[in-house]
Amino acid sequence: MTNTSSNGVVAYEVVDRIAWVKFNRPDKRNAMSPTLNRDMMEVLDELEFRDDVGVLVLAGEGPAWTAGMDLKEYFRETEAHGLGSTRKAQRESYGWWRRLRWYQKPTIAMVNGWCFGGGYGPLFACDLAFAAEEAKFGLSEINWGILPGGGATKVAVELMPFRKAMYHAMMGENIDGRTAAEWGLVNEALPLTELEARVTAVAKELLKKNPVALKATKDAIRRVSTMSYDDAEDYLVRAQEAANSFDNEGRKEGIRQFIDEKSYKPGLGAYDTSKQKKQKA
Ligand code: ACO
Repeated sequence: MTNTSSNGVVAYEVVDRIAWVKFNRPDKRNAMSPTLNRDMMEVLDELEFRDDVGVLVLAGEGPAWTAGMDLKEYFRETEAHGLGSTRKAQRESYGWWRRLRWYQKPTIAMVNGWCFGGGYGPLFACDLAFAAEEAKFGLSEINWGILPGGGATKVAVELMPFRKAMYHAMMGENIDGRTAAEWGLVNEALPLTELEARVTAVAKELLKKNPVALKATKDAIRRVSTMSYDDAEDYLVRAQEAANSFDNEGRKEGIRQFIDEKSYKPGLGAYDTSKQKKQKA
């Protein structure tokens, strides 16, 4: 059953432990208005620690993933109310992207169509990203006279090689899903008709993994990128020990099934988490 947020601009449904969350303003190409940003935080709150949710997929209703910030409601109307209003709108949008970057459950962006500007925030916030070949990605800010703010420039530099990021930001030309995959914005591009099946298959694989290890792993990948090797080594020792004390049984069961039971090989797949006593994510 599909649910909607308080103002109807985010839709969500949980099927077989996958939460399908959708930007739901198709008439406005899913542009992120302050209302949408507030509703998205509400939905993320609702889903994050539910036992029946193991993976979250962020998709878009209609022909867009998201056309970026709502130029009328997010910029023009908030600016008309002064700096306080602008800062509030920024806190709300950056707030849910940050929440998504450090989300308890693994997250997948399913980019079905247009993805512009501010959309790069949630794109980067998702751990994995899959796009339709037909999707179009653009840092269109330069086309209407601003720099890619709201983290978009940082996302471009984090995900793309320097020359690609510079060209992408300065030229304001769109790239399709296939090029987005080549440039590192997404993991893969597939025909739109195959996108949901691929994302479902990836989500199902994630559901088989130890959830405590998944959360520790995704956080580690984000954290170590800004650390020296020595700092990262230290952080990872401590993160592993913290995960061990939070989930003592999981890794022991993983070792048991490999060494004693010989029922799987960690190099070739995940251990059977259903054999271990239930643990909370
Ligand atoms: N902000 C506000 N309204 C928007 C936005 C947006 N970002 N994107 C689309 N809309 C609205 C349109 O104004 C239009 O509203 P209306 O029906 O009331 O006139 C409706 O959504 C449909 O848009 P169309 O332009 O008619 O749709 P089309 O499919 O022809 O084009 C496209 C889609 C290419 C995405 C176009 O809408 C567009 O260029 N949008 C702006 C993209 C953009 O540059 N976003 C800002 C990035 S910068 C940043 O986020 C900081």
